[in-house]
Amino acid sequence: MNYRTEITVVGGGIIGCAVAYELARRGAAVTVVESRDVGAGATQASAGMLAPYVEAQYLSPLWTLGSRSLELYDSFVTEVVRDSGCSVPYSRTGTLQVAVDDASFGRLEETAERLSSAGVECRLLTRSEALVAEPNLGQNSRGALIVHPHGFVGAGALTTALRHAGVKYGARFMVSEEASRILMRGGSMVVETAGRVVTSDAVVVATGCWTGRVRIEGSAVLPIRPVRGQLLRLSWTEALLERIVWGPSCYVVPWLDGSILVGATVEEVGFDEGATVSGVANLLEAVCDLLPAAQDAGFDAVRVGLRPATPDDLPAVGCSAELPDLVYATGHFRNGVLLAPLTARLVAALILDGKHDPLLDVVAPSRFGEL
Ligand code: GLY
Repeated sequence: MNYRTEITVVGGGIIGCAVAYELARRGAAVTVVESRDVGAGATQASAGMLAPYVEAQYLSPLWTLGSRSLELYDSFVTEVVRDSGCSVPYSRTGTLQVAVDDASFGRLEETAERLSSAGVECRLLTRSEALVAEPNLGQNSRGALIVHPHGFVGAGALTTALRHAGVKYGARFMVSEEASRILMRGGSMVVETAGRVVTSDAVVVATGCWTGRVRIEGSAVLPIRPVRGQLLRLSWTEALLERIVWGPSCYVVPWLDGSILVGATVEEVGFDEGATVSGVANLLEAVCDLLPAAQDAGFDAVRVGLRPATPDDLPAVGCSAELPDLVYATGHFRNGVLLAPLTARLVAALILDGKHDPLLDVVAPSRFGEL
């Protein structure tokens, strides 16, 4: 079956849905082609942390991208909620990083100085101050650092909302349609699935760790590999934490209903999306060390996702140098949720305005070859 649209977005994770929403909101006719269901890949296993100043080295490219995207988050969520009519859990109550010895506390002191000099609001806490801030912390902390602008968002809820908001602006979603080949034909871009040929003026590739599985004619293969993350959901009857707590071996994201997400393993096991006893056991041990009250929690679920990692851990976003109407928006590794609003803006500006933001220089797909 043949289908014609203006822009095809291949991949319906949080990045593909954010790009589709932004393009549709700006008036483009968009179709999303997704092999499973919307948000069913890495997105469903994300804890939704928005924490660039923990994830990125000081003033690194990821720091710049992450802080720019974090600045967009309040308005992004407000607009998506308004356009979709869906509710999206979103909180900016900060992170608390815990040091367990003098060496790690020294590193937090350095981080605090750097963050303050960059204008990021933060506060270094002694051990007793940390226990006041988070009374459920274990007794073995040496001190902690609160970074106030950090927060979290419900990644699944946001992705569903992006879909509904996109549909409101006319976007179409084709799910359970696996794109097998992308090519240029007669001046148009063509996306082939088992049962369809979707023709459009431009294609956005947002296929995460599966990017190498789509054959793109005339282009090298983007070197993206899967990095498995296992994440637990535990439940309490009451709220255990005020904010995200980041310990030496796990992070913990508190939800308003009293449940917490505990993440995450980082495993190079190829495309295996299975949970393992050792992954779960290590996370349980880490969370009980950090928060002894976790011993009494209920065990709700384990989620597993495959983060899409590039060789330099930065995303690959920008126009293909080989196929002028192909744009990559993939390889966001640990930060797809954080970087979704910025990626959507940059990609829409590229396609609809022909505007290449200098922020894209560092994430050019062509740094990995003839792409
Ligand atoms: N962003 C946290 C993780 O990927 O585990």
